[in-house]
Amino acid sequence: MTLQEALQQRRSIRAFRPDPVPPDLIREILADASRAPSGTNIQPWKVHVVSGEVRRRLEAEVMAHRETDPHDKVSEFPRTGGQRRDPYLGRMRTLGKAMYGLLEIPKGDQEANWRQWGRNYQFFGAPVGLIFTLDRDLDAMSFLDVGAFMQTLMLSAATRGLGTCAQGAWNNFWSVTRQVLEISEDEIIVAGMSLGWPDESAPVNSLVADREPIDSFAVFHGF
Ligand SMILES: Cc1cc2nc3c(=O)[nH]c(=O)nc-3n(C[C@H](O)[C@H](O)[C@H](O)COP(=O)(O)O)c2cc1C
Repeated sequence: MTLQEALQQRRSIRAFRPDPVPPDLIREILADASRAPSGTNIQPWKVHVVSGEVRRRLEAEVMAHRETDPHDKVSEFPRTGGQRRDPYLGRMRTLGKAMYGLLEIPKGDQEANWRQWGRNYQFFGAPVGLIFTLDRDLDAMSFLDVGAFMQTLMLSAATRGLGTCAQGAWNNFWSVTRQVLEISEDEIIVAGMSLGWPDESAPVNSLVADREPIDSFAVFHGF
C-alpha cells in the first residue's frame, strides 16, 4: 500500500472483531510510529498498551466510575472549548449526525447517546487499547509531537489492515485510568486509541467524514 492509499483508506473505526493482535505486530507499528518527528527530537510520547485482563479491568472500572458524576470528567490539561462555535460546531454536528444516523440513535436520545459515548471506554470492542501520556512538565509543543506520533501509528496500522480510533475521550476519567495502569502522577493522560481488526459488517465503520476544501484552510502567499 502506498502512503497515498493509506491516507485515503484510514478512517476512524468504531466496531472491532475480538480477534487478538499479535504483540510482535503491535511492536512493529510502535516502531513505525516512533519515526514521527518531534521538536528537537525529544520524542516525548509515552504509550501504555493495554490488553487481556488489564484491558478488561480498565474498561470495567472506568465504566463504573463514569456513572458517579466524578470530578475527573474533564481533562487534566486546559481545554477551553473554543471549538463550540462555527465553523467548528457545524462540522462537529455534521459528523455527529452522520455517525448517530448509522448507529440508528435518534436525535435527543440522551440515554442512547450516553451509552454510545461509553463505547469509547470499551475501546469499541477492540482487543487492544492505547493510552498516550506526556510528562506533566512538558509544554504545549509536546502535544503536537504526540499528535504526529498518533497519526503515524494510525497510518502504519492501516497498511497492515488494522483499524484505529483516536480517542480524546480517554483524557476524561483519568484518575481511574492512572490507578489501573499505575501511571505516575508525573504524567498526564493525553488521549487513547482503539486498535484491532475492523468489523467490516458494522454500519458505523462505513462513515467517511467529510473534509473541507483546501482553500478553506490554506492561504497561499507569494505565488
Ligand atoms: C485528537 C482526536 C481525538 C478524538 N477523539 C475521539 C473520541 O473520543 N471518540 C471518537 O469516537 N472519535 C474520536 N476521534 C475521531 C474523530 O472523530 C475523527 O478522526 C474525525 O471525525 C475524522 O474522521 P476519520 O478519522 O474517520 O477521518 C478523535 C480524533 C482525534 C484526532
